Amino acid sequence: PRLLTIAIDGPAGAGKSTVARHLAQRLGYTYIDTGAMYRAVAWAALDRGAPTDDPETISALAEGLDIHLEPGDSDDRGTRVFVDGREITDEIRTPEISSLTSPLSAIPAVRRRLVALQQRLGALGGVVMEGRDIGTVVLPDADIKVFLTATAHRRAERRRAELAERGLEVSFDELLGQIEERDQRDASRDVSPMVAASDAHVLDSDPYTADEVVDRILIWHDEAS
Ligand code: C5P
Repeated sequence: PRLLTIAIDGPAGAGKSTVARHLAQRLGYTYIDTGAMYRAVAWAALDRGAPTDDPETISALAEGLDIHLEPGDSDDRGTRVFVDGREITDEIRTPEISSLTSPLSAIPAVRRRLVALQQRLGALGGVVMEGRDIGTVVLPDADIKVFLTATAHRRAERRRAELAERGLEVSFDELLGQIEERDQRDASRDVSPMVAASDAHVLDSDPYTADEVVDRILIWHDEAS
């Protein structure tokens, strides 16, 4: 059978990462978390004390970063992320980085650099790539496109549980506010806004477990391969 490319897009906390990771595992495909790359840029900006409101400085910074992703070592550990050889896997998952990543990812030169990187990673097929613009911009010819949604309430709840598991207690209301603000910004930016591709399967994850969503995508995969 042919190695396919699968694009999983959607707003924060819809369950994309779990679904994409499990799907890749079931298929023996490579899982690529593009949000981790945008987060790495935000992390580096903070680490270097770069002025985060200056697009030119951030663009130059993004151009020069060596961003490297590696698969996690177990089912539940996501991608490991390295910038210039230093591991920042845990550092990029804080609410502070989440909030800063969104405006920085709207800078055109930042997107150009990361999209080029992502397209190289996707070129050989056999990948499940997760993000906001994968089906529309990064891999417009992907064999299967899924746009995963869920109510903001469910998404904030999911994020709260994820953070709590890692010992970070953040209030539900605060997270809900942050998630709504981030989605609003991601969906309304000029360059590659978050939007479902016209040929995407739009799937509301609320009624389903992650495994049920994975099973559904596997059926589409088997039909297409
Ligand atoms: O998916 P995750 O929550 O890690 O993404 C963090 C942020 O990175 C998003 O809120 C969005 O601003 C940005 N992003 C993006 N395009 C992608 C993936 C993530 O703009 N393909």
